[in-house]
Amino acid sequence: MSGRRLAVFGAGGMGREAAWLVHAAGDTLVCFVDDRAVEGLDAPVIPLEALPAEVEGVVVAIGAPTTRVRVAERVLAAGLALASVAHPTAQVGPRVTLGPGALLMPHAVLTADITLGRLAQINVGASLSHDGRAGEALTLSPGAHVPANVHFGERCFVGTGASFVNGLPDRPLRVGDDSVVGAGACVVRDVPPGVTVVGVPAQSR
Ligand SMILES: CC(C)(COP(=O)(O)OP(=O)(O)OC[C@H]1O[C@@H](n2cnc3c(N)ncnc32)[C@H](O)[C@@H]1OP(=O)(O)O)[C@@H](O)C(=O)NCCC(=O)NCCS
Repeated sequence: MSGRRLAVFGAGGMGREAAWLVHAAGDTLVCFVDDRAVEGLDAPVIPLEALPAEVEGVVVAIGAPTTRVRVAERVLAAGLALASVAHPTAQVGPRVTLGPGALLMPHAVLTADITLGRLAQINVGASLSHDGRAGEALTLSPGAHVPANVHFGERCFVGTGASFVNGLPDRPLRVGDDSVVGAGACVVRDVPPGVTVVGVPAQSR
């Protein structure tokens, strides 16, 4: 998709990255949306309530899953659509289904037969392999690699360079709702909901 007129919610670092994606995908960045005044960006920063009518969709560029969901609800309540955006180098294979508001950074890879809920963020060079699943607002940080048959719950956050052993078709590796996988961890067992795991092998803190 290209040629859309979009706004990016979040004028921080991820917002600047998302603005780059918008340009790279051939869309037009109308403005950023933020409650704070931020200077020095390549488009104006406008409060959500004052968005110009020309905006066709909003890219939510917030890294933390719970905050991202909260912001997305504000966008929807304002009658606006969640927009997905992907860098041209991101690779999406067959039977990959993404909910609205996905953000695919350069060299993100989603291979085959993957279903992700709304607001997925697949960061620079991160990958998710076949038969992966996630609820809403999955974050894969840069260079995180998720092999086959790993099933995430809602709002999971995976840190930079984390890795996993694969699950099996009849026994997926499960990562519970609102869990956090620390940077550099290697997950070898199911992660319960609401738990932070770190290290190799990953253990709860
Ligand atoms: C795991 C994580 C969420 C913990 O954050 P936190 O609760 O603020 O943890 P702290 O920084 O207070 O550290 C607490 C302890 O955990 C250790 N720790 C923190 N992160 C760790 C990690 N990734 N692996 C191993 N140990 C870690 C710290 O050394 C510290 O140990 P100590 O108590 O013995 O001194 C965080 O460190 C992390 O890895 N976040 C991912 C960041 C990332 O990848 N961002 C990408 C953005 S695109």
